[in-house]
Amino acid sequence: ALQGSFASKAHRSSQRPQYHLNPQASYKVAILGAAGGIGQPLALLIKMSPLVSALHLYDIANVKGVAADLSHCNTPSQVLDFTGASELADSLKGVNVVVIPAGVPRKPGMTRDDLFNINANIVKTLVEAVADNCPDAFIHIISNPVNSTVPIAAEVLKQKGVYNPKKLFGVSTLDVVRANTFVAQKKNLKLIDVDVPVVGGHAGITILPLLSKTKPSVSFSDEEVQELTVRIQNAGTEVVEAKAGAGSATLSMAYAAARFVETSLRALDGDDDVYECTFVQSDLTELPFFASRVKLGRNGVEALISSDLQGLTEYEQKALEALKPELKASIEKGIAFAQKQP
Ligand code: NAI
Repeated sequence: ALQGSFASKAHRSSQRPQYHLNPQASYKVAILGAAGGIGQPLALLIKMSPLVSALHLYDIANVKGVAADLSHCNTPSQVLDFTGASELADSLKGVNVVVIPAGVPRKPGMTRDDLFNINANIVKTLVEAVADNCPDAFIHIISNPVNSTVPIAAEVLKQKGVYNPKKLFGVSTLDVVRANTFVAQKKNLKLIDVDVPVVGGHAGITILPLLSKTKPSVSFSDEEVQELTVRIQNAGTEVVEAKAGAGSATLSMAYAAARFVETSLRALDGDDDVYECTFVQSDLTELPFFASRVKLGRNGVEALISSDLQGLTEYEQKALEALKPELKASIEKGIAFAQKQP
C-alpha cells in the first residue's frame, strides 16, 4: 500500500513496463535507534511495507514498548525487539537493510558538526556490529553529521575487511523531499511530478539542490534560485528552531528514510529502474564521498549518475566549488576519527 505514496512519477521512466511487487518478497530490516524520535515513526512506516517480513528494532532503552505496540498492526512483518549491547548482534543476524538513526539530535544554535563527538562513537560501535553480523547488508546512515559519519562507517568496515562501497549510504533523501515540496509550492506544480536532484553533502552549504535539473523542466528567476536554495539548505534548522529545544526533524525524516528503505528493497527485489540521491563513495568529483543520484540494483550502487553535474548554471557551479572545502574537511574529520581509534 505504501508503494504508491513513496514512488513519485519522476523516479521511473515512463516507457518501461511497470515493476510488480513480488508477493513472496520477504526482506529483513533492522533499525538501530528504533525508540527515538525518528526511529518510532520510521518503524511504523516500514511496518506498512509489503516487502518486509521481519522488522528488528534495536535501542539502548524503551524499545520493548515500541515493538509491542507496533506488533499489533495487521501487516505481514514480524516485529522483534532488542535492547542493549548484549542483544545488538542478534538484532542484525540475517538482515538485508540496516537503518541507523541512533544518536543525539540538534538543539537551537547547534550545527550538525556539534553532534560529532557523541554520534561518531555511536556510529562506530554500531557499524562494527554490522560488520560482524550482516556485512552484506545495505547500510543507511541517518545519524548526523552524515558528512562525517559515513566516512567513519567506511573506515570501520575497512578495518573489519568487509567494506563494500556500493552498499554504504548516507541518507540525504530528506533534502530531496524538501526540495520537491518547496519547488512544487513555489511553482504551483503537482507534487507527485516534481523531482529535484540534490548533490554534495548533508549540512548547510554542502546541500546543493540542482534547481536547473528540476523535472518537469521549470525556469526560476535568480531571486527564486537564491531563495529556494537557502531555504532547502536551512530547512533542518527551520525545524530545530520551531521545536525550540525538543529536537530536530523526525516525522519528515522518517518519511524520507522510509522512502529510501522502500527504494532499496525494490532494488534488492530486482526492479531495475530505481534511482535515489544519496551520499556515497564517489568519483564524480575529487572528493572521496559525494551525494548524487545513483542507480540502485541488487548489489547496491550500480552507477553514479554524472549527467546531473553536466551543464550546471553559473550559480550552481560556484556553489559546487564553494561547498567542496567544507565537505572535504568533514570527510577528513570522520576518517581521522576512525583511524586514531585503537
Ligand atoms: P532521538 O534522541 O529522539 O533518538 C535517538 C535514539 O538513539 C534514542 O532512542 C537513543 O536511545 C538511541 N541511541 C543512543 N545511543 C545509542 C546506541 N549506542 N545504540 C542504539 N541506539 C542509541 O534523536 P532523533 O531525533 O531520532 O535523531 C537521531 C539522529 O538522526 C540524530 O543524529 C540527528 O541529527 C539525525 N538526523 C538526521 C537527518 C538526516 O537527514 N540524515 C535528519 C534529522 C535528524
